[in-house]
Amino acid sequence: MRVLDLPGSGCETECIHHHMPRAQGQIITVGVTGASGALFAQKTLALLEEDARVARVHLVITETGQRLFAEELGLTSGDLKQLPSRILGRTPNKIETLPNKDVGASIASGSYEVDSMLVIPCSMGTLAAVANGTSDDLIARAADVMLKEGRELVLCIRDTPFNRIHLENMLRAQQAGAVIMPVIPAFYDQPKTIDDLVTQYTCRVLAQIGLPQERMYRWAGRSSSKEAKA
Ligand SMILES: Cc1cc2nc3c(=O)[nH]c(=O)nc-3n(C[C@H](O)[C@H](O)[C@H](O)COP(=O)(O)O)c2cc1C
Repeated sequence: MRVLDLPGSGCETECIHHHMPRAQGQIITVGVTGASGALFAQKTLALLEEDARVARVHLVITETGQRLFAEELGLTSGDLKQLPSRILGRTPNKIETLPNKDVGASIASGSYEVDSMLVIPCSMGTLAAVANGTSDDLIARAADVMLKEGRELVLCIRDTPFNRIHLENMLRAQQAGAVIMPVIPAFYDQPKTIDDLVTQYTCRVLAQIGLPQERMYRWAGRSSSKEAKA
């Protein structure tokens, strides 16, 4: 349960996110935008594709998101519908690509039941659109729907440094119910490879939407070296 503290409203709204696995499996929307970190999107899609608890993934990639797949991973496809196969290295069973221009797609309506939505990575531009409810493309509209329906929305924002506009937009989105989950990998699990870093961060994101992964490292406490020597 998350409590929303809405500024100026003088009241607190309770927002309950359910992690009730439905019989048919979860429906997840994944938005990929033009922020650095296409590897995180690739890992998210791979983990969701192989997760038995997930029935369907609606994937929306912005134009700049497509450019990032090309720039960072050398992945391109003339036909957007073929891009998931290129990203996963095999034909996906669950992933359906929707054009970002199609604001009339299923996920643009609250009557279509999406369990959770991830935007990974999330640009400052898309953060601004979500924080201000512009709903001017499918990712922004689908995110807007998640917030109005009290469903889980995780924004894996990425930029550095942040200006005041970014920070204010993060606060606005968080106060409306989004989880702000910056792409900040951890090092306490002693990662050896980039894939270790990417996997562990992505596992934390999936845990946020009620899909904890077996391979997620869990800190169990450790004595400091001082204490260990004492
Ligand atoms: C190679 C490249 C890297 C970028 N990296 C970032 C980034 O890390 N964070 C960010 O907010 N914008 C980044 N941008 C800028 C956004 O892509 C740009 O603002 C774009 O309009 C965002 O649109 P979108 O949210 O519809 O994808 C990058 C752009 C390019 C071409």
